[in-house]
This record gives sequence, C-alpha cells and structure tokens, in this order.
Amino acid sequence: MTLIPTKTEESISQAPLSHSQTNRRQSHPIPILSNKVVNVASVPQRSPLRYPGGKTWLVPQIRKWLAKLDPRPELFIEPFAGGGIASLTAVMDGYVDRALLCDRDPELSNLWRCILNDTDRLAQQVESFSPTPDNVRAVFDDDNTSDFESAFRTLLRNRVNRGGIIAKGASTMNKGENGNGLASRWYAKTLATRIRTIGSYAKHFEYVRGDGIDLVERYQDRQSAVFFIDPPYTAAGKRAGKRLYTFNEIDHESLFERVSAVKAPFMMTYDENDEVIDMALRRGFHLSRVAMKNSHHTVMYELLITSQKLSP
Ligand SMILES: C[S@@+](CC[C@H](N)C(=O)[O-])C[C@H]1O[C@@H](n2cnc3c(N)ncnc32)[C@H](O)[C@@H]1O
Repeated sequence: MTLIPTKTEESISQAPLSHSQTNRRQSHPIPILSNKVVNVASVPQRSPLRYPGGKTWLVPQIRKWLAKLDPRPELFIEPFAGGGIASLTAVMDGYVDRALLCDRDPELSNLWRCILNDTDRLAQQVESFSPTPDNVRAVFDDDNTSDFESAFRTLLRNRVNRGGIIAKGASTMNKGENGNGLASRWYAKTLATRIRTIGSYAKHFEYVRGDGIDLVERYQDRQSAVFFIDPPYTAAGKRAGKRLYTFNEIDHESLFERVSAVKAPFMMTYDENDEVIDMALRRGFHLSRVAMKNSHHTVMYELLITSQKLSP
C-alpha cells in the first residue's frame, strides 16, 4: 500500500505568545517525567540506521508507556518512522503484534522495503563491502537505479555522512570516531545482524511511503492500535534542522487536529516550544518533559504529548 501525499506543506507559525497562551502555560506547569539522561549504550540498538532526531534515548519511556496500556494494543503505528527504533522495540519486545511504519522520504522508504523484503541480499552486501574512501565514492557516484543498489547507497550514506543525514547536501565525515575514518561507522557484522534480525520479524511489519498526517486520519478509529508520532520539527531560528530530512516541514496544527480524533492511545514527541505546548493544551492533551542530550551534548527537555497522563 502506498499513500500518496496530498497535504500542502506549511511551516508552523512562530508568532509571539499571546496573553492567553502565557496565562495558560503558567497555570499548567509541565511535570518532569525523568531528569536522568539515558545512556543510549544501555538500550538495545535494533535499527541499522543512525537517524537524525532518532529516539533510541526515549526507548525506556516508550517501553514504560507501552507496558502500562490496558488493553494491550495489537498494532503500533509510527507515521514519521525515520530509523524506526520505536516500532522495532514495540514489536521485538512483544508489546504489540504488528507495527505499521510510514515515512515520506522515498529513499528511506525504499531502504526499509529492502530490509524487510530483500533481507539476506542486503545483509550480504553489507558484509562484503569495504568502506574505503574510493569504494564509498564509487557507490555514491554510481547512477545504477535499481531499488537494491539505491537502498544500499542510502544505508551507506546514512552510516558515513555527518549526523546520519541522507538528505541532499549532506557531507561525508572525514575523521570518523577516534580518527578511524569512514570505517568507524560501518560495523559490517553488527549491521548485517540487525538487518537479518529485522528480516526474521518481517511479517510483523508493514511499511508504507506517504504522508504521516494522512496515515493518522486513515487509522483514527482503530481502537486496538497505539500511535507513536515523532514529526520533523524545525522551530524558528533552527535553520540547521531543515537540513536533516528531505521533507522537513509539515502543518503541525493540522497534525494536532487529526490526532485529536484518534481513538487509540498516542504519544507525540516535540522539542519544548511554547507554540507546541499551546496546540496541545488547546486540545486537552497531557504534557510531560523528559531530559535528553542534544547533538551538542547540552542537556535539555523533550516534550511528550500523550492521550493519557504519564506517571514517572
Ligand atoms: C524526527 S524524524 C523521525 C525519527 C524517528 N522517530 C527515529 O527514531 O528515527 C521525522 C521523520 O519524518 C519524515 N517526514 C517528514 N515529513 C513527513 C510527512 N509529511 N509524512 C511522513 N513522514 C514525514 C522525515 O523524513 C523523517 O524521517
């Protein structure tokens, strides 16, 4: 199933806070769910992608939330899937039977389809590839357009480009980790194992390319589902964020409107921002904050917006 994007993209309005917004925020202090920054090394790394804005660090909170859902949901829906760590965790840890992943990026979507449907071939290609600068350049410059070759190229770009960025204009890292160059991000055996493990669960995953807001609308009445919604969010002044994804702007107001019609539990994640808080409070959603480290290693808070109140 392929969802064809239909929405006109708009960026979120960044108007200054009105008096009523300020008052609302003062009368609704947002509880801190966790002040402890998660060490991602303590979380099972199941995705072969090192995805910008990836939520591996949020996995402990996602698990806690899923474990408490009663009745147990059958279907995990991730409309802005990126590296898919939330869906992989939900299925492989047995919190749900199936996951439906969606992303608008065609190259990423092609890679996910290849991981799920051409698992062994991709794993073998990963194992046999030697990431010398010449070999990497040859793959990047190869205009072979088969889905398989392009999936491998996307995976390679994700691994060796700065910040895991696959969008056009991303640069390739030079020194890599501890000066080990491109190979420092190409753990062939580990990546091949992750791909094969995902392949062994393939019948539990469905991947669609399309618009996340349309997907929310399509499944809004499904009570036996659960939604994890992590949209691209580039607030005013955060120009760098715009380079992270090929598709990086959505109509957040209309996403919130769609989510308010959802019958199943949901969790949305956002940078802490007054406009976002306002959109959530206006719809009676629950807010909490979780400590995290950004890419510059500064500790900050991420907003969790949920259908039900979360407890620490
Ligand atoms: C913040 S990232 C998701 C990261 C993911 N949660 C993870 O852990 O890797 C947002 C994703 O939304 C995708 N995206 C952007 N616009 C979209 C749209 N309209 N519909 C679906 N996906 C979209 C981007 O391609 C990007 O992969």
